[in-house]
Parts: sequence; structure tokens; C-alpha cells
Amino acid sequence: MEPLKVHKQKLKILVTGGAGYIGSHTVVELAKAGFEPVIVDDFSNSHPYVLQGIEKIIGYEPITYHMNCRNLDDLDQIAKEHDDIKGLVHFAAYKLVGESVKEPIKYYENNLDSNISVTKFCLKNGIRSVVFSSSCTVYGLPDKLPVSEAAPLKEAESPYGRTKQIGEYFFEDCIKALHPLNVISLRYFNPIGADPSSEIGELPIGIPNNLVPYITQTGAGLRELLTVFGDDYSTPDGTCVRDYIHVSDLAQAHIAALSKLLSDQSTEPKIEYFNIGTGRGYSVLEIIRAFEKVSGKSLPHVIGPRRKGDVPMIYADPSKALKDLGWRAEYNIEEALSHAWKWEQRLPELNLKQTG
Ligand code: UFG
Repeated sequence: MEPLKVHKQKLKILVTGGAGYIGSHTVVELAKAGFEPVIVDDFSNSHPYVLQGIEKIIGYEPITYHMNCRNLDDLDQIAKEHDDIKGLVHFAAYKLVGESVKEPIKYYENNLDSNISVTKFCLKNGIRSVVFSSSCTVYGLPDKLPVSEAAPLKEAESPYGRTKQIGEYFFEDCIKALHPLNVISLRYFNPIGADPSSEIGELPIGIPNNLVPYITQTGAGLRELLTVFGDDYSTPDGTCVRDYIHVSDLAQAHIAALSKLLSDQSTEPKIEYFNIGTGRGYSVLEIIRAFEKVSGKSLPHVIGPRRKGDVPMIYADPSKALKDLGWRAEYNIEEALSHAWKWEQRLPELNLKQTG
């Protein structure tokens, strides 16, 4: 979809969690599409370097508020300084599945509270257009693959997943109450990779939980070897299958969603859901082989036990996003892994090498 005709007017978009992994890539795409992103981030899970990285790509440092979006007084301050915010992209949330199992209070408190404050902020300031950062985890263990938006939300595998389900129900209830909001909930599959410029990318704190940063850190010699969590699933090669999507493609989906919201003339409150994936699943072993191909390195790995809470196989039916948003993933798996690998190799030079 052609990014909005109005983009020459530099519409201001508030991006909570805009210094995070997906947030920062979305800020870049917003700026490239002619929007003016305004970041709110408490930097609890992001590095201040990200702002420099963004600046290197877009040519200026985006307006950034170092604050927690759960604090309405702080948000009011932003509204005072910018009375022309036209849309909100709400990323700010905790996202570690394993941690959420151990610390449910932390997850419920942060992820649900932030939905409430940003919504109050939007209602108070007449901001109708909201993109909510959701996840394919809302489907739980799907009955049918590829999973489409029509699939029922089954029991979530973790408190994190539940907070995303509740987030969607929360917005749905606000719509039913006729609050003047137009919401698009994007259900992300597995984001990987980095901006092709290698100026920004994923910066996991401590030992990575996710597959691709663990692989790139192992490739870089920071980790001894990768453990494949289980090879006895009923999948083609016994390892779990996921729909890995390049983070810049994912970022582009936000531009498409915002463009749809901002050009919608109707004043009727509504919420829509979209799967944001490629439609193609890859097993853990296929990802290892693809990484070996793009990096020219052999990746030391062992097969270990299953990880609790892992769904054996999930991949998207992304056809609704193509039909209604004009969006589809452009990068293939090798490009995504190659960008992740290039980024990993840049970290020492940027003094960002993370260990732990
Ligand atoms: N895996 C390994 N070894 C590792 C890390 C991961 O074998 O060291 C495997 C996992 O078992 C899984 C696959 O790689 O089969 C992908 O795992 P990730 O942790 O990278 O991703 P998940 O699919 O578990 O989780 C991601 C996001 C969540 C989101 C979820 C939705 O991290 O935020 O997708 O399915 F909720």
C-alpha cells in the first residue's frame, strides 16, 4: 500500500517502546515514510545507543521522552508539548515468555497498566488511530495451520501471552463502549534480523532467550554452542517450526496499518486484527542450516530437552494483511539471517558487545 498521501505533512506519531527492537525499526520506517515519530521509552530494556543508530539512518535524532508510559502525568506533559499527535503505536511491554511464568505480577502490572494509560491519553487528546503490538502467542496451540485471524484464541502458553490476549479484549471492550478509537492489532510472528544498514538491530540483555540472537552470538564465539530444544516433536524434522519475519518487514506493517487508520473517514469505533508473518514455517534445524550458509560458519549445536511452553508448530496465513493493508513480507529467510549476522559482527565496533 502506498504510504499515505498525507505524509508530506509530517504527521506526528507517538511510539511507546520506540527504543526497543521492533520499536526502533518502526521509528526508522515511520521517518522514511514521512511521519514524525515521537518516542516514549523508559529504557528498561533498551540501550541509549539506539537513538544514535536511528539518527545515522534517518539523519536526525527523533524526539524522545525518557519516561514510562504508565505515568499519565508524564504523558500529559507530552500532550502539552505536542498537541498535534495523530496516532499511537503502542509497543511498550515486557516480552520474555519464561520470565513471565516466574514473575506474573510484573507482567500483568506493566503490560496491562500501560494499555490503560495510553488509552486514557488517546481519549483525552482526541487520538483515534492506535496500532497495538500483539503476538501470534494469542492463538495458544492452534488447531489449524496456517493460522488465520478467524482462529479462536485458545489458552495462552504463558502469562505474557495472556497479557496480549487481555490487551486485545481490553481494546475490544473500549470499542464496544463506543470510545472513539480505531485500533489495529498486529499479531507478530517471530521477528528476526536487523536494519540492512546494520546501524540498529536486536540488543538482548544477558543470555538471549530467542533463537536467532543465540545463534548469532554462538557464531561470534560469545556462546559455546546452541541447544536445540527438542527434536521429538511431530514436525517434519522433529524440531519446532516458526514463521520468522524480518523486523524491517514487520516495521513496514505498522506504516500500512497507520495509513489505513489515518485515511479512514468513518467515525465508528472499531478494532481489526492482522497476522504479520511470511506464511512460511522453518524448523530450528533449517534455521541453523540457513545461518551456516549465509555466515559460512559451522554452528556448534546439541539436541537438548524440550523447552516448557513451546508450541510445536505455528505459521501465519498473512493473506488478510495483503488484502486489506496491501502489506506482505519482502525479505527471505537468508536475507533476514544475513542482516542479523552483519549486525552481530558490528557490535564490537560499536562497543555494544553484550555478554552475561
Ligand atoms: N530455540 C532453541 N534453542 C534456543 C532458543 C530457541 O531450540 O536456544 C527454539 C525454540 O524452542 C523454538 C524456536 O527456537 O522452537 C523459536 O524460539 P524463540 O524463543 O526464538 O521464539 P518463540 O517462538 O518461543 O517466541 C517468540 C517470541 C515471543 C512470542 C512468541 C509467539 O519471543 O515473544 O514468539 O510464538 F510470544
